[in-house]
Amino acid sequence: MRTKLIAGNWKMNIGPQKAAAFASEIKKATETSRAEVVLCVPFVDLQNVADAVKGSALRVGAQNMHFMEEGAYTGEISAPMLAEIGVGYVIVGHSERRAYFAETDETVNKKVLKAIECGIVPIICVGESLEQRDRGVTVDLVRMQTKIALGGVPGDKAEFVIAYEPIWAIGTGRTATSEQAEEVCLAIRSVLGELYCVKKAESTRILYGGSVTPENASELFSMPDIDGGLVGGASIKPTFERIVNFG
Ligand code: PGA
Repeated sequence: MRTKLIAGNWKMNIGPQKAAAFASEIKKATETSRAEVVLCVPFVDLQNVADAVKGSALRVGAQNMHFMEEGAYTGEISAPMLAEIGVGYVIVGHSERRAYFAETDETVNKKVLKAIECGIVPIICVGESLEQRDRGVTVDLVRMQTKIALGGVPGDKAEFVIAYEPIWAIGTGRTATSEQAEEVCLAIRSVLGELYCVKKAESTRILYGGSVTPENASELFSMPDIDGGLVGGASIKPTFERIVNFG
């Protein structure tokens, strides 16, 4: 049985002064959750949130990282730096980073490898645009994104999470239907079976992301191949507690 994972992606919201208080509220809600919960917060919030959730089941994650360990990369943050704070997860290849910060499948792969090497579980984002969905290439594209992201990743030792996030559903209020999301998550699981083995495919968590709300979370998370969600807008509202304790 896979434990559900609910990852909040705060994006560029909530500064360090308010982060700890909000994280503490979510920490309380997490006590009654049957899912594992992680808050992926801005870099400047990481230490405060890590302190606030210490000793609890609530985990801390980052939203990005550089693939080099150190050096002359002004403005960047490395995986060892994140590990030092106790960060357990990192979002890699979010579509906003691919669209606005020139992230490619190749840099995603480098980041995935470095995160795993440093003991951080990457949450690897894949997903199609509306134009690609309309052209009928969704499954092919997501299969390819997944394969490139996992190049060189040893299936037996490495833990990773895949998040299927259709770009047209992110921040738009337009959620994929549970059938649409299930179809692609199942396709991702079969890629994992081809790349590794059935056991790896069956034990890896695959999330859905894109306008997840307290209203639609239960139905989405009840699908056989959807193991939780990557939640943006709804994760910075108090009602995130309802997603954490989905029915
Ligand atoms: P959303 O964002 O829930 O606001 O659609 C999801 C994401 O970007 O991870």
